[in-house]
Amino acid sequence: MRTILGIESSCDETAAALVASDRRILAQRIAGQDEAHRPYGGVVPEIAARAHAEKLAPLIEATLADARMGLDDVDAVAATAGPGLIGGVMVGLVTGKALAMASGKPLIAINHLEAHALSPRLADPDLAFPYALLLVSGGHCQILRVDRVGQYRRFATTIDDALGEAFDKTAKILGLPYPGGPAVEKLALEGNPKAVPLPRPLVGSGEPHFSFAGLKSAVLRAKEAGTHADADIAASFQQAAVDCIVDRLHLALDKMGDITALVVAGGVAANRSVRAALEATAAEYGLRFSAPPPDLCTDNAAMVAWAGIELHEQGRSDPLDIAAKPRWPLDPEAEPVRGAGVKA
Ligand code: KG4
Ligand code: ZN
Repeated sequence: MRTILGIESSCDETAAALVASDRRILAQRIAGQDEAHRPYGGVVPEIAARAHAEKLAPLIEATLADARMGLDDVDAVAATAGPGLIGGVMVGLVTGKALAMASGKPLIAINHLEAHALSPRLADPDLAFPYALLLVSGGHCQILRVDRVGQYRRFATTIDDALGEAFDKTAKILGLPYPGGPAVEKLALEGNPKAVPLPRPLVGSGEPHFSFAGLKSAVLRAKEAGTHADADIAASFQQAAVDCIVDRLHLALDKMGDITALVVAGGVAANRSVRAALEATAAEYGLRFSAPPPDLCTDNAAMVAWAGIELHEQGRSDPLDIAAKPRWPLDPEAEPVRGAGVKA
């Protein structure tokens, strides 16, 4: 049995967790920053880094105290080392390094995307490799085949916005509070998903990539036209987003070869319409469907600790001078996509 301390600070959640190799989450604490970023309608990197620096050390102390453990009781320290907002990533990684150095325990530098990719295995002991992963968060929008720990093949990415970003921007257009995903989902419940004609960007194209910038612009035009109820815009946007995901996923699954399951991770996986559509797609292909509980889908440190456990089992540890990485693709072989910005 091993226990690993996980640290996460790559976006706007400051988090620490202790996870055991038998999949028990012994303790976890998470401090959000939604209030601090709300006036800006999105995460402000400078504000995020400062908040991580203030909150992380006491949060780790409290997490250890919750489990009645000390650093002597952990087998390794796993900290997110990228990709993400570099100021925040550095706070978490430097803290991880300091704890590893002080305790003489190994440091494992975690790829945040790998933590999302492996998180379904923390919640679902029966999930076997290889599986298809739809990773949909505020910063990422990818379809991957997870072959085993450390081997990922990217089939699709976004050429502009991530899906979570599209939800957040739609929320901003509709005057809903940040973070927008849950607010849009709630409002959509009261609307008609067929009321507003919106585009399905890239649907029907040959590669399974995503694009949401055109959809966002269409939402803005619909709002400015002043003829639609906000709830109808929210519902129609959500339906367009779901249609895009399902279409792109079909294309990727057709190319993917034998897999055991369809898995969703990332913040948008908390969305019930998205989940329902994915469940139906999995059923069509005769695949198991696996989705971690919502609090494991959004950014958290339990997934970081779990990735640490999977990597520690393979003998991974990292030197204390390892650098934080603002970009760190899971599949280094993946071709760059035309038009892709920072999210490739
Ligand atoms: O994984 P995550 O916590 O952080 C990133 O790594 O980005 O994902 C946050 C994103 C935000 O864009 C948020 O609006 C979106 O996930 N999100 C949702 C829902 N809950 C969170 N989007 C749609 N529906 C939801 N219920
Ligand atoms: Zn994330």
